[in-house]
Amino acid sequence: MSEVTRRSFLSTTWKVGFGLLAAAGAVTSWDLLKPRLAAGFDAIVRTIAPDAVPETGVVEVREARGYLVNIDGDVVAFSEVCTHLGCRVPYIDENDRFECPCHGSKFTREGCYIEGPAPRGMDHLATEVVEGIIEIDTTEVTKGSPPGSEVC
Ligand code: FES
Repeated sequence: MSEVTRRSFLSTTWKVGFGLLAAAGAVTSWDLLKPRLAAGFDAIVRTIAPDAVPETGVVEVREARGYLVNIDGDVVAFSEVCTHLGCRVPYIDENDRFECPCHGSKFTREGCYIEGPAPRGMDHLATEVVEGIIEIDTTEVTKGSPPGSEVC
C-alpha cells in the first residue's frame, strides 16, 4: 500500500483545485459568449397597449428579449439578438439607433442595417393585439432585410 506524502497530497489538491477553477471559467465564458438562437424561446409575451408605445425611442421588453418600436403609427417588435453572432443589441438614445457592442454593427431605429459585420437588419418578432394589449410571439421570427434593401 502506497503512503500518501505531504508533497503528493498538496500536488493532487492543487491540480484538482486548478481543474475546478478552469472548468468554472469555461462554463462561465460559454454562458456569456454562446450564440443565442434566432428562433426565439417559445413564449408569447403580453406587453402594453399599442398607444403606450411612444413615437420616439423604443420600449424594451426584457421578457421577450426584444423591443417595441412605433414606426409612423405602426408598432413592430424587434429581436434584441444581433444578426451577426447573437450579442444583445441595445438601443442608444443619444444616437437614435441600435448599436451592437460586440463587433460594431449598427441599425436604425426602424431595424435597418447601417454598417458592421451583421448580414442583415434586425429580425422581427410577430405581434398581435389581444384584448387591447400587444402580444409578442417569440416563436415567430422574420429575418431582417439584407443591406441595401429598400424595405427593412
Ligand atoms: S454580434 Fe453584433 S456585430 Fe457581431
